[in-house]
Amino acid sequence: MRTPLIAGNFKMFKTAAETADYVLALRGLIAGRHGVEVMIAPPFTSLQSAAQAAAGSAIAVGAQNIHWEREGAFTGEVSAGMVREAGARFVIVGHSERRTLFGETDDSVNKKVNAAIAAGMTPVVCVGETLEQRDRNETLAVLDRQIKEGLDGATGEQLAAMVLAYEPVWAIGTGRNATPAQAGEAHFHIRQRLKQWFGLESSDRCRILYGGSVKPDNISKLIAHPDVDGALVGGASLDPKAFFAIIQGARTT
Ligand code: 13P
Repeated sequence: MRTPLIAGNFKMFKTAAETADYVLALRGLIAGRHGVEVMIAPPFTSLQSAAQAAAGSAIAVGAQNIHWEREGAFTGEVSAGMVREAGARFVIVGHSERRTLFGETDDSVNKKVNAAIAAGMTPVVCVGETLEQRDRNETLAVLDRQIKEGLDGATGEQLAAMVLAYEPVWAIGTGRNATPAQAGEAHFHIRQRLKQWFGLESSDRCRILYGGSVKPDNISKLIAHPDVDGALVGGASLDPKAFFAIIQGARTT
């Protein structure tokens, strides 16, 4: 059985002090609750304060991006080893905002996935189609390409430990979530492809999150699909109470 994972992507919100306050509030809310894994990905500058505030709790910390090199003359970039030392155990790779606003490609996603694994971190690899691609009936082909190229060279064992996130671009920050049927169709397709490319056992263990306007009132229906293993939450993760409501809505036990 895959343990559901509810992950919060803070994007460019919250200072280090605000993140620490948030984590203290969230850990008070989730104290003693089990059955759902929880991760938050604050900005780089908040990683250390998040990790310190979360120490000894069930809250894991993730980074929102990394560079694929270990070190070098890459002004403004941060490596996997650096975010890991700051306390991150997960790293979001290939978010659509990075793809569309910062030129991320399937090739750079692939290098970052490898760098994350080499540093002992869990990559959360984001895939998803734009509205134009959906309208042209290209959704499944886009997902195939992003997964095939983004995960090129990964072993079944590595895939099993990874997290994928299906985030349709048209559902991000728009208040328009994919319907449970649309999410289910994409997740089912992704699982089938993973099975084909990495084998039954690995594909069964890999968690696939849904992301795009997840809120306390839609999480239960989304996660009811057997191939939806949790959520990557943007806006609604910024308020600990709303995020906690989503965590509760994801509990299957
Ligand atoms: P929203 O939940 O704000 O739509 O953002 C989703 C997202 O991009 C998570 O990575």
